[in-house]
Amino acid sequence: MTQLSAAQTPQRKPAEGNRALYGGKINRRITVRDITAAKERGEKWPMLTAYDAMTASVFDESGIPVMLVGDSAGNCHLGYETTVPVTLDEMTMLSAAVVRGTSRALIVGDLPFGSYQEGPVQALRSATRLVKEAGVGAVKLEGGERSHEQIRLLVESGIPVMAHIGLTPQSVNSMGYRVQGRGEEAAQQLLRDAKAVQDAGAFAVVLELVPAELAAEVTRTLHIPTVGIGAGPDTDAQVLVWTDMLGLTGGRMPKFVKQYADLRKVMGDAAKAYAEDVVGGTFPEDEHSVH
Ligand code: KIV
Repeated sequence: MTQLSAAQTPQRKPAEGNRALYGGKINRRITVRDITAAKERGEKWPMLTAYDAMTASVFDESGIPVMLVGDSAGNCHLGYETTVPVTLDEMTMLSAAVVRGTSRALIVGDLPFGSYQEGPVQALRSATRLVKEAGVGAVKLEGGERSHEQIRLLVESGIPVMAHIGLTPQSVNSMGYRVQGRGEEAAQQLLRDAKAVQDAGAFAVVLELVPAELAAEVTRTLHIPTVGIGAGPDTDAQVLVWTDMLGLTGGRMPKFVKQYADLRKVMGDAAKAYAEDVVGGTFPEDEHSVH
């Protein structure tokens, strides 16, 4: 693997101009063509997950250009232990809600475990549901070389695909939650996976939990944008799970999560204050009553 020194690493331009995905003036739904143009300009962009209309509307108003209705909804919204049990019906319902709550962001719907592994035709049937019934602008699926046929058929059928390599949580039962791409052989496999999804026509690729230097190399090698999570600072875009980023998930967070708020505390404190008011008879007051 070739490694560039810090001095050789290309400098990123901050997002600027009317066409910037974040902070620009695009006031229509963002498309995959906008994403491709951002890579050509060297513009970095943020992606967040969203699982419901109201939260998605907050992120949309904040200018987040791309939202992923991730199957992380399994652990972060639906109360499952992993993403494995999430169904296509559930993803369709959640994706439709996020589309309804937004008017600007590109919405990417995740294909859940079991909805595309049988082959390209099953993948097309599943992705078609997310596009037609939920209204997403693109779908995401896990796997590099192993998923390239699925990606190719979806793209040929007019469905933009975001790929996902490195740690792929739907394979937790065989892979665990471990850093991927460590060591020469694993690094070469990750590069092959990245090229395979690009060659199959993916418009972007998520790199999850891979060493920062390897993610930087993949980013330099590909002409499609890389979206990092636990992949260091040199990917084209970053994604975080919104409940982790806003401190709602609870429990121990992975090292790569930066917590920007403590919603768990804010909500817990508010719930306690309300309960105490009710128990103590101080809510409702006259101003909350009708006469
Ligand atoms: O399901 C999800 O939220 C994801 C992101 C972590 C990339 O796949």
